[in-house]
Amino acid sequence: MTTMLPAEQQALELDAADPLPTRRAEFCVPPFGSGRGSGRGEAAYLAGNSLGLQPRALRARLESELDDWARLGVEGHTEANRAWLPYHELLREPSARLVGARPEEVVVMNSLTINLHLLMVSFYRPTARRHAIVIEDAAFPSDSYAVRSQAAFHGFDPGEAIVRLAPRPGEAALRTSDIAGYLRDNGERVALVLLGAVNYFTGELLDIDAITAAGQAAGAVVAWDLAHAAGNVPLRLHDSGADWAAWCSYKYLNAGPGSLAGAFVHERHLADRTLPKFAGWWSTDPGTRFQMGPTVMPVDTADSWQVSNPPILAMAPVLLSLEMFNQSGMPALRAKSVRLTGYLESLLDAMLAGRPAGVITPRDPERRGAQLSVRVSGRDVGPLTERLRHEFGVFTDARRPDVIRLAPVPMYNTFHDCWRAATALAAVLDA
Ligand SMILES: Cc1ncc(COP(=O)(O)O)c(C=O)c1O
Repeated sequence: MTTMLPAEQQALELDAADPLPTRRAEFCVPPFGSGRGSGRGEAAYLAGNSLGLQPRALRARLESELDDWARLGVEGHTEANRAWLPYHELLREPSARLVGARPEEVVVMNSLTINLHLLMVSFYRPTARRHAIVIEDAAFPSDSYAVRSQAAFHGFDPGEAIVRLAPRPGEAALRTSDIAGYLRDNGERVALVLLGAVNYFTGELLDIDAITAAGQAAGAVVAWDLAHAAGNVPLRLHDSGADWAAWCSYKYLNAGPGSLAGAFVHERHLADRTLPKFAGWWSTDPGTRFQMGPTVMPVDTADSWQVSNPPILAMAPVLLSLEMFNQSGMPALRAKSVRLTGYLESLLDAMLAGRPAGVITPRDPERRGAQLSVRVSGRDVGPLTERLRHEFGVFTDARRPDVIRLAPVPMYNTFHDCWRAATALAAVLDA
């Protein structure tokens, strides 16, 4: 007979009493151990900030798209159950709801970094005086590479053009007032502000409204990378006034490895025919697309940033994911997320006290999403996360040299997962 520790019992009681029951059973949770199954039950998967879990319903959904292709061949464009030609329209409303946009402001297409580039074609218009791009010093490397290559493409020295904002010495998170202060004092040289709304490393949620206002007051275009924000925190892109944004769907949105990305362009830019764009046949008005004319007939929606025809098999998981988010509702998911992350934080604080590790994510729930980042002093975190997975069945991820990221995802994680993660972390730190 196994005896249950009081803290574990409490976690199970929290799960039983939570007003938003977990949808864990609707997901493929990897087995404890090596991933090949070891008969020890399911993992505690706290890596959904990196790659979300597979919804069980996806296999049948993909099969139905494959069946349409098998049954109809090219006629699936118009005769499939979900006709392929207007398929991306199915994603418009729920994507807009997810990021707080008007439907015409969003489109699902490409991958995230590609969308950053396509939108910078339109919205990074550097001049000799105003060509700086402001990012976080802890920006995800792909964003850093993308903005450096854009500056170089326009003939500027990336080392001079890219401004990396770092937290104050001894602090892990950026302060809104420092970002706003930088933009106030140096704004005349800033062409573009491109920040991660939730930082991939620290888990910090920036003040989108305040920073957007500060950047625009300085005369800059303000854009947001929502890779770690979409499906994680409530967003109000339209009302925030942000110029544009992009996000991926493989993290909190559970649409699968490398899945399609979203893009947002604020309404005020949609009819601007002076914006440069890279075009293809999906940039043109669908009403005249098959007249096969030589020039684009633009539409005044975010669709005009599309280039190629959409990959239906890649869109199917995004559609399913958005349906699941619609069913649960972002407000309820966020409320549960705050409960789960707060609980994990309290366990980590208790268990890491006296050990060489601590949470570096902001303490205020308004300044973070689901993720908590733990800095471990003087240890390589790679072997620690390996041990967490193989000995305790706890999936986290290592951001070398010294940070472990843990994200309880409200759609499928439980309070019991949080308890498993915190107790396992304390155990591997002691070993
Ligand atoms: C914040 C952020 N930006 C950009 C990317 C790169 O995305 P992609 O490979 O889909 O272009 C990632 C990937 O994890 C990310 O976390």
